[in-house]
Amino acid sequence: MAKQLCAVKRLKITGIDLSSEMLEIARVNVPDGIFHLQDSRKASFSSEYFDAVVLSFSIVHLDDDEANGVLANAVKWLRSGGYLYLSFMEGKQPGFETTSFSSQPLYFNYFQETKIEEFLKENGIDRFRSIRQDYLELDGSNTTDVFLFGKKTIGSDTVFFPQKKIEVIR
Ligand SMILES: C[S@@+](CC[C@H](N)C(=O)[O-])C[C@H]1O[C@@H](n2cnc3c(N)ncnc32)[C@H](O)[C@@H]1O
Repeated sequence: MAKQLCAVKRLKITGIDLSSEMLEIARVNVPDGIFHLQDSRKASFSSEYFDAVVLSFSIVHLDDDEANGVLANAVKWLRSGGYLYLSFMEGKQPGFETTSFSSQPLYFNYFQETKIEEFLKENGIDRFRSIRQDYLELDGSNTTDVFLFGKKTIGSDTVFFPQKKIEVIR
């Protein structure tokens, strides 16, 4: 995603992940970016530091309380008028799942769009646009990928919503 954004506009990118392999991919895709091996639950940035915060399926391995903590921090780090992008899955019970990319079962959490929007509104994010996309899991069950776009409205009156359809490949 950072690579696509940088192709459109010159941006200063800061990224964090717990996986060094994921950070290596990010460094190749965005050579000018600054990437840290860091736990999002313990991450700390100055208030109003970023123009935009992107959480691309970043909360899916966190439990509800952990995810709420990361979301609340993300809003704090966002400047007034800045944009939040958040994606997650809806439609299953949380639990450990086997995957093609890990030898150990991984914890996956599933969230509800209405609850997440409510939580974000309480924390200062408003003016939502959401895109929902059905996803057929390997076990034949269906989940829904949810993509939310919001704006930190405190102290700002301008409206922005991306108008183009977004194609997501997972
Ligand atoms: C589903 S992947 C999404 C990866 C990438 N953001 C994307 O959209 O392609 C979830 C990512 O969250 C990372 N992750 C899981 N728990 C984390 C945590 N506590 N702090 C930081 N990253 C975490 C994993 O290493 C993994 O790269």
